[in-house]
Amino acid sequence: MKLLLKDGKVINPVNKTITIQDILIADGKVAAMGKELAASLNLDLDESTDGRSTVPVDSNSGFQPVFFNNKETSKNACPPIFVINVKDKYVVPGLIDLHVHLREPGFEEKETIATGAQAAARGGFTSIVCMPNTEPPADNQAVISYIQQTAQKTGMVNVFPTGTITQGRAGKELSEMASLAEQGVVAFSDDGAPVVNAKLMRHAMEYAKMLNLPVISHCEEPALAYGGVMHEGFMSTMLGLAGIPAAAEEVMVARDIILAGLTGCHLHVAHVSTAGSVELVRAAKEKGIKVTCEVTPHHFTLTDEVVSSYDPHTKVNPPLRGKVDVAALHAGLKDGTIDVIATDHAPHTPEEKELEFEIAPFGMVGLETAVGLVWTKLVIPGILTACEAVAKMTVNPARILNLKKGLIETGGEADITVIDPNLTWVVKPEEFAGKGRNTPFSGWSLKGLPVVTMVGGRVKWMKLDK
Ligand code: DOR
Repeated sequence: MKLLLKDGKVINPVNKTITIQDILIADGKVAAMGKELAASLNLDLDESTDGRSTVPVDSNSGFQPVFFNNKETSKNACPPIFVINVKDKYVVPGLIDLHVHLREPGFEEKETIATGAQAAARGGFTSIVCMPNTEPPADNQAVISYIQQTAQKTGMVNVFPTGTITQGRAGKELSEMASLAEQGVVAFSDDGAPVVNAKLMRHAMEYAKMLNLPVISHCEEPALAYGGVMHEGFMSTMLGLAGIPAAAEEVMVARDIILAGLTGCHLHVAHVSTAGSVELVRAAKEKGIKVTCEVTPHHFTLTDEVVSSYDPHTKVNPPLRGKVDVAALHAGLKDGTIDVIATDHAPHTPEEKELEFEIAPFGMVGLETAVGLVWTKLVIPGILTACEAVAKMTVNPARILNLKKGLIETGGEADITVIDPNLTWVVKPEEFAGKGRNTPFSGWSLKGLPVVTMVGGRVKWMKLDK
């Protein structure tokens, strides 16, 4: 199948340029790109049809093929060239989310690899990295292989598993890290829990460095965080809820930065949420320590004030912080201290999230609201340019994970996302493709939506005007 994306505003997140171009996709690759490609390649596009054509959307997608008005349909090419008019829309490298909980194996009532991958496609993500806090945990080759094979069968988006740092995520003994690496994990993490033992973390970093893979650290000092359900501060006092101090995160960020300096390992700090953490990462980068970090859309959008609703959908770990922290996250995004925007997509069942605040599980879904929040809260207000935002969801995570992705280039894999920056839409969790409905953004009006998600040249999700 050949496909032409016509007249899009193509973002190159490496050079930070936007150019109006056509992109021709053939055999899963970018065959050509340039201005007025249809004319220069002598493509015979028939403008005289009744203006109705169908771009095949993968049958595995679970979505109905989408019909749309399209004046340009190939006349006599065989196989036909499908044309998608993407004028006034951003055409960006397929988005990469390096922090997703797919829940399978073990918690299929919350999410499966198939439903999580569908949610990813809807959210504009062509590649996702899944965290190892499954049951059994992803601490051996069999579980990793199961995830890889199931994802392949699902055929929606690229799924890259992480392997645990410690066996069973129990923090006692290291996993067989070399064997996990051999099976193709892209990073090591005990996400959902910290590695409390500093000596064990040091050894994990030494092995990870030898294997040339990053360690993704869930930074939380458990004694300081113990019993807390929200950010410790004025709001927790007012609400009478036990707090998790910023220090619980920062103490571990500091420790892991020191260990990264000691070992030379690439440390990636997951879900940074406090001003102090941003400052620690900034200083470490200035010293030349190999550290990167991510922020979630919920942490750069919300403060702990929303917890006053006692709505368990606002309960997440690390917790939503104060205004000063959110401002520091914005500054860190702008100056490059924060490399990546990742969702920490953490689906839970309605039954679990209907429990009272103190006992409901931590976590919220994020795959299907990420682009809307990035555009509405960062790009439109001018905190990040479109190119900067896209870099943090494409080339930056690709570099951290050593993936040859994150850029649209001739000859490269056709993983492409089209974003309509002018489309205003309302978050309706009941319409999510993923199983989780646990979002605090229900009913929010957002501007900016992924309208085409293409993986290896195949359209996995499309929502264009009829
Ligand atoms: O809120 C969270 N939920 N934070 C985590 O670190 C883990 C995640 C989950 O697995 O539910």
